[in-house]
Amino acid sequence: MKVLVIGATGRVGTEVVKALLQRGADVRAMTRKQRNPGAFPDAAEIALGDLSDPVSVAEAIKGTDKLFLLIGRENVTVELTQALTAYGLAKKAGVKQVTYVSVFKADQFLEVPHFANKYAVEEAIRVGGVPYTILRPAYFTQNERVLRPELTGLGVYPIPAGNQGLAVVDVRDLAEAAAISLTEEGHNGKTYDLVSSEMLRGPDAAATWSKLLRKEISYAGHADFDRFEAQLREKGSPSWLAYDLRVMFQGFVERGFSNTEDQTARFAALLGCRPRTYSSFAEELAREWAAA
Ligand SMILES: NC(=O)c1ccc[n+]([C@@H]2O[C@H](COP(=O)([O-])OP(=O)(O)OC[C@H]3O[C@@H](n4cnc5c(N)ncnc54)[C@H](OP(=O)(O)O)[C@@H]3O)[C@@H](O)[C@H]2O)c1
Repeated sequence: MKVLVIGATGRVGTEVVKALLQRGADVRAMTRKQRNPGAFPDAAEIALGDLSDPVSVAEAIKGTDKLFLLIGRENVTVELTQALTAYGLAKKAGVKQVTYVSVFKADQFLEVPHFANKYAVEEAIRVGGVPYTILRPAYFTQNERVLRPELTGLGVYPIPAGNQGLAVVDVRDLAEAAAISLTEEGHNGKTYDLVSSEMLRGPDAAATWSKLLRKEISYAGHADFDRFEAQLREKGSPSWLAYDLRVMFQGFVERGFSNTEDQTARFAALLGCRPRTYSSFAEELAREWAAA
């Protein structure tokens, strides 16, 4: 059984390739460019393909049985086109299972462009006729990796996470869920919320990082989203992304992005263990920064 992994060289895809290999699956990893030897586990086959070029994607899919489909960060504006292209070509090629990475509460934040794209892809997959699993991960704990300058320098936790609590997930648990859906029976037609037990609250995150980094870290707050959006542009975010993230976090703060214990329990049952938490990832990251 061979799985084509789209998004294979990214944050999630790298872990998905590892998790699939550990479960004994054959893996073909798609990338747009020839990788340096050693960049991938030797066991993974490489296929060159670009989601904006259906001919190359059709070629990459040939001879595979299942598809892991993730649209990378830079392409979420064209996710609908790219995901439906890959899905349509996989269906044409007779692929037997598709696992698609959407987002937690995709249907409840349709004013956020990248959520609306994902929900439209989900709906197309649900009626498309190929056995599927939809994964709806929450906020990645690994997002915090880029906060090092603000945390260790300025002493500010800059994410407007609010006070109610945002659902989070570790990408390694997301990857394991993906590998399970592609290698075990019983996941056809399922949509899974991938949410940890511990939610992210702005003031708590500041306290966690203060303790881990042994310095005073303050929470930047969530009162001024015009400022948040402008700051994202100043820091170099593409203009469309600054708007998208502003609408997303504003929606989270105003309407909530929290999960229930039942949702976490269902995720734990899928994994066969408790999902990793925000604090455990923060501890790992703090140790890594201290050692660097
Ligand atoms: N960040 C969060 O908190 C969060 C939460 C829930 C859901 N998500 C979703 O997770 C996804 C991001 O995952 P990630 O962080 O792993 O992404 P990422 O690191 O940006 O993934 C990049 C991958 O996409 C591939 N790629 C980019 N453009 C491509 C193209 N035109 N054709 C083929 N492959 C292409 C890259 O391949 P090469 O460069 O090797 O060609 C690479 O493998 C997004 O869909 C996002 O909405 C994120």
